[in-house]
Amino acid sequence: MTRVTLRPVRENDLTIFEEEFGTPAGRGELHWFGHRSPGRDRRAYAENGMLQDDGGTLTVCEGDDVAGRVDWGRASGWGPPADSWCWTIGILLRPAVRGRGIGTEAQRRLVAYLFDHTRAHRVQAYTDPRNRAEQRALEKAGFRREGVLREVQWRAGAWHDQLLYALLRTDPR
Ligand SMILES: CC(C)(COP(=O)(O)OP(=O)(O)OC[C@H]1O[C@@H](n2cnc3c(N)ncnc32)[C@H](O)[C@@H]1OP(=O)(O)O)[C@@H](O)C(=O)NCCC(=O)NCCS
Repeated sequence: MTRVTLRPVRENDLTIFEEEFGTPAGRGELHWFGHRSPGRDRRAYAENGMLQDDGGTLTVCEGDDVAGRVDWGRASGWGPPADSWCWTIGILLRPAVRGRGIGTEAQRRLVAYLFDHTRAHRVQAYTDPRNRAEQRALEKAGFRREGVLREVQWRAGAWHDQLLYALLRTDPR
């Protein structure tokens, strides 16, 4: 595996994201929620480079090549939002680069980035029970499995369980 890095999104990346993640095959059936406006990413890119105080997107690179994207957003609801907030992260890699360790390394780097540059105490992620690759990648990046969110996600005409994972600033990494 060539060196994995995260960098701000460039305009050309948006076309790659649209082509690679705009279909059930590219995105993966476990992450297909129907067609979405490509305008949403393009507007966010034009407005703020997809980097805001309450969330953002970085491009995952393997060497100079675009491998995918990582996203994060502010999650609250565990208490008063001003204090009891955390980040929820997500990742999409291009189908051709999966299974080579990039997902593990990219999520490791995203956690380090968020703990370095924000005051967050907790980074969380959720994934489908059938997504063994993401479960392993999260575990290898230091996340702990916390439990099952029962039938929390509507997808493909049915409700689906999700597994909740989290990594605290004070956890070993
Ligand atoms: C999930 C994803 C991020 C994982 O990244 P990746 O680079 O493919 O995974 P890695 O190569 O880092 O592998 C991580 C672990 O999962 C294992 N793994 C990889 N693919 C697997 C598969 N299809 N089934 C079971 N295990 C798998 C690897 O063997 C490795 O474990 P090991 O080191 O113990 O052998 C990536 O595959 C992806 O983007 N998939 C589509 C979108 C997605 O599922 N996003 C997650 C959002 S919930």
